[in-house]
Amino acid sequence: LQTLPPLQLAHKYFSLFPSDRDPLWQNPCEDKRHKDIWSKEKTCDRFPRLLVIGPQKTGTTALYVLLGMHPDLISNFPSKETFEEVQFFNGHNYHRGIDWYMEYFPLPSNTSSDFYFEKSASYFESEVAAGRAAALLPRAKIITVLLNPAERAYVWYQVQRETNVWYQVQRETNVWYQVQRETNVWYQVQRETNVWYQVQREPTSGIRYRESPRLVSGTESAYVWYQVQSAYVWYQVQREPTSGISYTERPRLVSVTERVHIWYQHQRAHNDPVALKYSFHEVITASRDAPVRLRVLQSRCLVPGWYAVHLERWNTHYHSTQILVVDGQMLKTEPAAVMDKVQKFLGLVNTVDYHKILAFDPKKGFWCQLLEGGRTKCLGKSKGKRYPDMDPESQAFLREYYRDHNIELSRLLYRMGQPLPSWLRDDLLNTR
Ligand code: A3P
Repeated sequence: LQTLPPLQLAHKYFSLFPSDRDPLWQNPCEDKRHKDIWSKEKTCDRFPRLLVIGPQKTGTTALYVLLGMHPDLISNFPSKETFEEVQFFNGHNYHRGIDWYMEYFPLPSNTSSDFYFEKSASYFESEVAAGRAAALLPRAKIITVLLNPAERAYVWYQVQRETNVWYQVQRETNVWYQVQRETNVWYQVQRETNVWYQVQREPTSGIRYRESPRLVSGTESAYVWYQVQSAYVWYQVQREPTSGISYTERPRLVSVTERVHIWYQHQRAHNDPVALKYSFHEVITASRDAPVRLRVLQSRCLVPGWYAVHLERWNTHYHSTQILVVDGQMLKTEPAAVMDKVQKFLGLVNTVDYHKILAFDPKKGFWCQLLEGGRTKCLGKSKGKRYPDMDPESQAFLREYYRDHNIELSRLLYRMGQPLPSWLRDDLLNTR
């Protein structure tokens, strides 16, 4: 028997089996041959036993936080790249290998009781995530949160618009100036207090923001924004006349942290300013011959809402009993009842009564963690926003658009032995 040297052999192998170039990681302890060569230093228990798979904008962060409040559940370490989400199975991180993934979880202390989980909201609609997850975590539990797909699409679009404002600012520095003008704060502060002028030591009139290259980098613009805030505060302290500007109507872009958050959101929003250019109705109704960028946005907005297609994919890789479908509407209004179901589904040793540790915060309009002294800790500003109502034409369009998908979903859920979410029941009644 003859063989080639290792490198050439590998080349030969991959030319014969090109599909094997894309790895499919498995748990090393599932296969004796793998286990035998797996380092003695490593454990096979440093993987999650629960995945919250999304989709985005359905309440996945709220569920992630609620799960983290349970003493038996341990979430992943937050990712610096993508905020808290690891995003291993859906994209390029997968090629970094399982050691990279394991680093996101603590070293197991007592292997039988450590119950790790992670939430990555793009797993749901990913074509590859379900197969990859099932190969590595065949016994994992899967939770998906489903909200009315029309509502999800609308909220998703609103977020794109908001996050992309900052993108516009970066790309066209003159927009920075325009945003200031629009919001009136910084622009007026400049004119009336001259603080920023002092800092810049440039003439106030004739500052050519359009050509200011300074305002391009994220760090610098964060700094600039900080200065603007100082100017604003200084101005408030002076209590000088505002020339009719009502500062109570200050725009959303008020703090450095918030702006940085928006900057981060922008990074996640794939740099696409199209949402600013087109209305929600234009996005969802774009025709086949519409500009490509608009079509891409349309698809990112609508496709995650093809729930039956995506859920079916997960169901071919995981048994129905391993999957829990959470009603996103119920998660908003009765999170404690949802958590009762979740705990049962996970078969946890200890049961937490979430009715006792959550409280409705009227200011936030959502349920939040109850702290000592009756105070509440809610999700950050970027979660749980209020948007204007969707226009009736878009509502009618989406009802029609998602009709067959929703009917298909109800069939699938029936087959899976899962109850229908309340919004789906209502939707089906209305479409008859
Ligand atoms: P908005 O932030 O658009 O209002 P996700 O985390 O999957 O992106 O979902 C965000 C959505 O979760 C929020 O949408 C909000 O409607 C919903 N949500 C559910 N429970 C919540 C809670 N307790 N606090 C804040 N938002 C919650």
